[in-house]
Amino acid sequence: MSRAFGSRYNIESSKEAKEYFDFVKDLLDSNVVNEMRKFRHHYSTTCFQHCLNVSYYNYLVCRKLGLNSKEAARAGLLHDLFLYDWREVEKKSGDKPHGMRHPSIALNNAKQHFNIAKREEDMIVKHMWPLTMKLPRYAESYVIVMIDKYIATLELGTHVSRVLKNKCRNITQKSKIIFS
Ligand SMILES: [Fe+2]
Ligand SMILES: [Fe+2]
Repeated sequence: MSRAFGSRYNIESSKEAKEYFDFVKDLLDSNVVNEMRKFRHHYSTTCFQHCLNVSYYNYLVCRKLGLNSKEAARAGLLHDLFLYDWREVEKKSGDKPHGMRHPSIALNNAKQHFNIAKREEDMIVKHMWPLTMKLPRYAESYVIVMIDKYIATLELGTHVSRVLKNKCRNITQKSKIIFS
């Protein structure tokens, strides 16, 4: 079962998420998209979970705005399809930073496995704008630029609050031992 961050709905089984699921079912069934489960992305979030989060909220916002929500959902799920631990690659590489390189790597991978529409291509390759210099061409691309940053911030916040909770629990346990 897959569930976007903060959502109550299981993507594969909830009627509330049915339209979204219909749009991305073939992607979720593919080996290459599931491969992203192996790689950590933002702290404790996997690449798959991050892409699912971006895809689902990109879909919801674009649907609300009357934009192309199907392509928004699909591009969201593929926008970080780079299939490696970027921390390891970043250490070894003397190349441009990963943040600037990975949108075109993700697009190339996506094109190898799926038919990618022009608008989806723009969303994937420019989701890191303004880091990637070229201006986004479609309204949906500006939406993914914002959703990606918003979701990454939430993922970081979740990680930080989990770490702080664990630290507080450890301190409480230690003080119980000392004062008991
Ligand atoms: Fe990215
Ligand atoms: Fe991302």
